[in-house]
Amino acid sequence: MTELASLPGRKADHLRIAAQPGVLHTRGAGLDALRLRHRALPGRDLADVSLATTLFGQTLAAPLFVSAMTGGTPEAGRVNMRLAEAAAEHGIGLTLGSGRALLQDAGLLGTYRSAARPPLLLANLGSSQLQDRDAARRIVDLLDADGLSIHLNPIQEAVQPEGEPVSARALDDIARAVADLHPLPVVVKEVGFGMDPEDVALLAAAGVAAVDVAGAGGTNWALVEGQRDPGAQAVAAAFADWGVPTADAVRGAVAAAPALPVIASGGVRDGVEAAKCLALGAVAAGLARQLLLAAQEDRAAAAVATVIEQLRIAVWAAGAPSAAALAPDHLQAS
Ligand SMILES: Cc1cc2nc3c(=O)[nH]c(=O)nc-3n(C[C@H](O)[C@H](O)[C@H](O)COP(=O)(O)O)c2cc1C
Repeated sequence: MTELASLPGRKADHLRIAAQPGVLHTRGAGLDALRLRHRALPGRDLADVSLATTLFGQTLAAPLFVSAMTGGTPEAGRVNMRLAEAAAEHGIGLTLGSGRALLQDAGLLGTYRSAARPPLLLANLGSSQLQDRDAARRIVDLLDADGLSIHLNPIQEAVQPEGEPVSARALDDIARAVADLHPLPVVVKEVGFGMDPEDVALLAAAGVAAVDVAGAGGTNWALVEGQRDPGAQAVAAAFADWGVPTADAVRGAVAAAPALPVIASGGVRDGVEAAKCLALGAVAAGLARQLLLAAQEDRAAAAVATVIEQLRIAVWAAGAPSAAALAPDHLQAS
């Protein structure tokens, strides 16, 4: 029988394995198939392109997020410090990794939070942790966060030997967390398999402030769990291209809940892909693994600067005055 790993052991495995080869979906995020229009006469100076965005009452210098990753181990502390410094320096959002370990041991706070404070900081918990009614409020208070991001990860938990598959009560627990945290925003995200439009409609009705579709095309959490455990690997193999590719997930979410802000993530590799997501209707884009690799090499701030510069050029060359103005019209007709 497989020996089950402790929570810190699992977090350490995740950080190590997610950075290795062999953990990406075998099918892309669907963004390659989209092309932004190219305006040889962009119509304005590059310096006049605005990327600033207001989200949940906070102003971001660019509509970008560091997606939720880690916390709870010394290595996680180093990664989080670099990610927070990068997000604070460049004025973008940061979602911290799951705070489950912190709820169990408040002494781990320093592995989540550092002195650097991004303009928008979200705490993160799995939907299963909401069965403890106080968990949502406690994690936001402990981290002095601006709101809560709740992850849904049915495939990961089902494949993981220690997993607690997303419960049938998850939607009720989310609705209760929304009410308990009001007026702070609650965002619900996947972890890289996307969301069906029907899920997005249910989450909108539950009162969430935004969804982060975290679509398929980047890090595949079945494959990550598969690399931790031979039994899980056999099961995980069939899920190597499971899920809703990010481009389809964004389109579906925008159509299902037109008034709900949609964050695009899952396999977003650069600022041009972020711009494509914005043109599909997302309000912001998030990157996880790309920025983990950069943080591990202590170049997170440079990596974020590059994505922002790519986004600025893409917005300009597509002919839009601002990131917020990107729309389907800025995509080439297929
Ligand atoms: C090392 C690592 C740890 C992660 N841990 C969490 C987590 O604690 N909570 C969460 O919501 N998502 C977590 N994720 C998922 C990411 O937030 C993201 O949804 C997913 O990796 C897809 O984005 P990507 O293709 O840019 O990596 C983690 C991702 C990585 C790479």
